[in-house]
Order: sequence, then structure tokens, then C-alpha cells
Amino acid sequence: MKRTVDCGSLRKSDSGNIVVLNGWIHRKRDHGALTFINIRDRYGITQVVADSDNSPELLSVVGALHNEFCVAVEGTVRERPAEMVNPDMATGEIEVVARRILILNQSETLPFQIEDESAAKEETRLRYRYLDLRSAGMQRRIALRSAVAFAAREWLTGQGFYEIETPTLIKSTPEGARDYLVPSRLSPGNFYALPQSPQLYKQLLMVSGFDKYFQIARCYRDEDARGDRQPEFTQIDIEMSFVDRDDVLRVGEGLMQHIFKKCLNVNLSASFPRIPWEEAMDRYGTDKPDLRFDMPLQEFRNFAEKSGFSAFKDALAEGAVKALVAPGLATYSRKQIEELESHAKIYKAKTFAWMKVSGGQPALEGGASKFFTDQAPEIIQNLGAKPGDLILMVADCRKQVALTSLGAVRSKLGHDLNLYQPETFAFAWIVDFPLFEFNEEENRWEAAHHLFSYPQEPFHAAMERDPGAVKGDLYDLVLNGYELASGSIRIHDPELQKRVFKTAGIEEEEAQKRFGFLTDALKFGAPPHGGIAPGLDRLVMLMAGQHSIKEVIAFPKNSFAESPMDECPSPVDQKQLDELHLVISKD
Ligand code: AMO
Repeated sequence: MKRTVDCGSLRKSDSGNIVVLNGWIHRKRDHGALTFINIRDRYGITQVVADSDNSPELLSVVGALHNEFCVAVEGTVRERPAEMVNPDMATGEIEVVARRILILNQSETLPFQIEDESAAKEETRLRYRYLDLRSAGMQRRIALRSAVAFAAREWLTGQGFYEIETPTLIKSTPEGARDYLVPSRLSPGNFYALPQSPQLYKQLLMVSGFDKYFQIARCYRDEDARGDRQPEFTQIDIEMSFVDRDDVLRVGEGLMQHIFKKCLNVNLSASFPRIPWEEAMDRYGTDKPDLRFDMPLQEFRNFAEKSGFSAFKDALAEGAVKALVAPGLATYSRKQIEELESHAKIYKAKTFAWMKVSGGQPALEGGASKFFTDQAPEIIQNLGAKPGDLILMVADCRKQVALTSLGAVRSKLGHDLNLYQPETFAFAWIVDFPLFEFNEEENRWEAAHHLFSYPQEPFHAAMERDPGAVKGDLYDLVLNGYELASGSIRIHDPELQKRVFKTAGIEEEEAQKRFGFLTDALKFGAPPHGGIAPGLDRLVMLMAGQHSIKEVIAFPKNSFAESPMDECPSPVDQKQLDELHLVISKD
């Protein structure tokens, strides 16, 4: 009773053949003299029919069948009568008339129905993930993930890249997030860390002369989970020697083009737009803009200056006043506008204001309009607003806060108003990021990406004097409002690396202790090099039209970094703790 065919392949031309199917009972419908049983496997569903003329043994087996029993069915393929053809099923033209059914294994009643997309609560889906994975949706997405990983390997290998594994028990060299630590048994009191990415190892491979490296690499970061963030995730990690930024971007584009063509039959454009970081922040209020729609943030400074609106004027010296025209939203109620305000305030904007463009002779009304009566015609014209539009404005004496807050409103409106076609893919490179950002809490400069990115040449001389002005040879690939990949040209000069450590507040001794193996390696003829790392989970999530990477990971963690299925993390035996020389503190 081993299968001769899978549950997705039989067609009209197979009529008359005797076949054996193996799979799970998806549904069973009793129609008096006839029983219809849908058998499911990873390839599809086939309808099996048992009628009352069958042998008593077969009928008694049919009577015992329940959903999700694992079975083998032997029978004859028969064309369905025209009125019974199901055009929604690939196998809808045929059915298999059962001759013998063997129960391979029974199933208890399931905690939820296996449907195309499970309606069960997330915690239940994760608790019984092996059942959740039986759904057609999860099966499709896991298949897509496998195809994407294969396409990546295929293209990169074809371009001459070597796939090289790097260790997952490494020295703790935090890259921005908290490390997951692994205690050493043989070296009491010492720890390995799980890699946040293979960053340092891939750079060392360049020093070793493997000038094109990639790896489908597991990464681990102990940070709060979000829809697009998991404590363990996968990168398509890439590094190359003797390249400049444009070479790396071309590799990123070629890789994406190949993956989208192979896996979705989508043709991406030959190159993706490049937007300097400053422009992205100014126009979209984020470094990962969703470019499926425009609705840009616009400058409102000149109007604020001439107005009597003190909350706006206060922001002018060092901050920003920005406006956004929301088309047709003059119909929004006060409550709906307040919701937008609350959204802007999540990002800490000090002042949020609005006004509506009224019809007839266009004029401004409501909200803050009284401050702008004199300037109304210029404002309407300058912003390109039309009667019926809503103008939203944000001011803050911290420029980035103003931009980010209104940018968040832009993203929310794009989503709420369906301003884009969900199935389009709007890629862009964000380039020229600042190398350092100021950590307000710790009152010091730190690396915006990681410590190994190359400061652009013109900023070398004044780096220590004005870290905030330094642009890095840094780039992100964004897709539909998500950061899909990140990378940079690296520092290969040990002296420059020391200066960057120092500017980021890491003294020489500390740098030597933490990253000595890298700075030592740079002293031995390290080549110029650079790379990039697209997140595989985010890529597959966006290709599959999902909003959570959990939907494309076979066994993800919940938002508390737990697995409800195997109940990890979990306590360990005292003996294990003793071997590792660990004592759990009572508090
Ligand atoms: P970065 O930290 O920006 O860069 O990560 C690169 C890409 O990895 C994905 N990613 C994640 N996906 C899921 N869950 C997470 N917690 C998570 N964190 C990151 C994102 C992101 O764009 N070593 C550098 C790369 C380089 O410079 O070459 C790095 O790791 O898609």
C-alpha cells in the first residue's frame, strides 16, 4: 500500500488506472449510499469515493475514518460526471473509487481544523505547530522559503561565490543587540555567544582570500520580538573583496531579480532607485519608506515662520515643521484625526496640528487654520492641496523626531486608505547613512550600523571633530516599507578602524580585548571589501504577502521568545548547572 501517485497529480487522462494514495483524511462526507473522502498530502487533495456496493470490510474501515487519520487508499481513477467536476481543485476532474483502505495511523480530535489558513489563536497554532504546518497556507509558504533559499544558492554559486559555514559558538562581540550566551563546561566562568550575524568571520574570510563568500546563516539576537523580528532568524549573508559600493548593490539587485523570477515569475527592474538617507528622512520620515505610494512630507518652515503659531515657531531654530496632504480626508471626524495625532505622538512629536481645505474658492478651515488665514492661498498652492483634502502638520525642536512622527502617520494612512496595490514590489536602496548616531541616554556617539563600516573618504579628516556629519559607505535595501537588507563597505585599514572604535567611545584596550582578532587580521594585507545581508525571513514574508515573519518560519518563537510547543526556555537539571559551574540566583 505504498503510494504510486501523490494527492495532487491525477487528471482525466489517468482514468481507468489503479493507483495507491497515501495521506491524511482532510474531510469525510457521508451521502447515504456514497461516502466521499478527501485525502490530502503536501501536493494536493484527491477525492476518494466508497459506495455501499463495496465489501463489508472496506465499509467498516470507511466507517471508522475520522479527520486527520493517516491512510493508504487503493482504487481506480474515474472521470467525474460533468456536474460533479470541481474547477477549484487541480484534481477536480477525477475521483478514485476505493477498493482497499488501510489505516496507517489514527488521530485524536484536533485542537483546530486544518484549513487553508488557520483561524486558531496564535498560541494554539504554536503549541501544535506540527499540525498548523499541515495547512495549505503554511505548506505553500514553507515551499516558497525552500525555493527562495535554493534560488539564492543557485544564483550566488553561479556568480562564483563559495558557500562557507562560520561557527555558531563564538566570542561575545555584541553588534547592537544583546547576545545569547552559552556557558562553557571546560572553561568555568567563560561563555560563548551565539552570533548576531557572521559579520567578523566573513571579513576574516576576505583576509583569507575567499573573495566571494555567502552563507545562509542563522543569527541570534536577544531583543524584543516584533512582527518582522525573531530572536533567531536567517540571513543570506554575502561578502566580497576588491569591490566598491556599486558592485555590492549590483549583486543585491541580481540576486533579487533571480529570486523573484524563479520563485514568483515576477520581473523586477534592472536596477533599483537609490535614495540618499537624508532625502528619505526628509521626504518620507523614515529610512525604510514604502514607495508603493507617494504622499510625501513637505516643508512647512516658511509658512510657520510667518504665522503667529508659537508652537510651530518654537521648533524652527533646530527642529522642523513638516506637512502632509492627505487626499480627500477632509471628511475625517475629530476622533479620526485624534487617532492620527496619537499615532504621531507615539514617536514623540511635540506638536501635531491639522486643517482642512474647503471647497468652492479653496480656503483653510478647522484646527490650526486660524493661524494661517493670510497665507492660505500660497499654502494650498505650494502643498498641491485640493478642496476636500486634509493637511496634517508636525513640529518638534528635534528634527528627526518631527520627521519620524509625520512619517509614521504617512505609513498609517497608506495602510488605512489602501493607497497601494499589495502585490507590487517597490524596492529601493537607501544610501549615504550617517556612520554614527548619538545615544542620548548614554550621552555618547555610537556606530549607527556596526563598527566595521567605512567612513566615506571626504569625512576622514574631521571624523573625531564632528562625528554626526560623517556619512558611511552604508546601504540598506528596502522593500514595501521594510528593511530587507543592510550592508556596507568595510574598513580594511587597521589605523582607521582604531579611530572609528575610539570615536564610538571604545578605548584601545577595550577594542583589543573585544575585536583584537579582527584588527590583528587587518594588519596582514587585508583587501578592500564589503558586503550585504538580506534577511531571508523578511524576504519570504514579503514575497508571500504576509505581515509577520512567523508565517514563514517552520518553528518560530512567540513574542516572549518562547516556544509553546517544546516549552523552551525551560529549567535544567541541577547536574547540568553543576557541570557548567552555574548557580541560579534566588532573586
Ligand atoms: P543587520 O543587523 O542590519 O546587518 O541585519 C541584516 C538583515 O537581517 C534581517 N534581520 C532580522 N530578521 C529577523 N529578525 C531579526 N531580529 C532581524 N535582525 C535583522 C533584516 C536586516 O536587514 N552583519 C550585518 C550585515 C552586513 O553589514 O553585511 C547585519 O547583520 O532583514
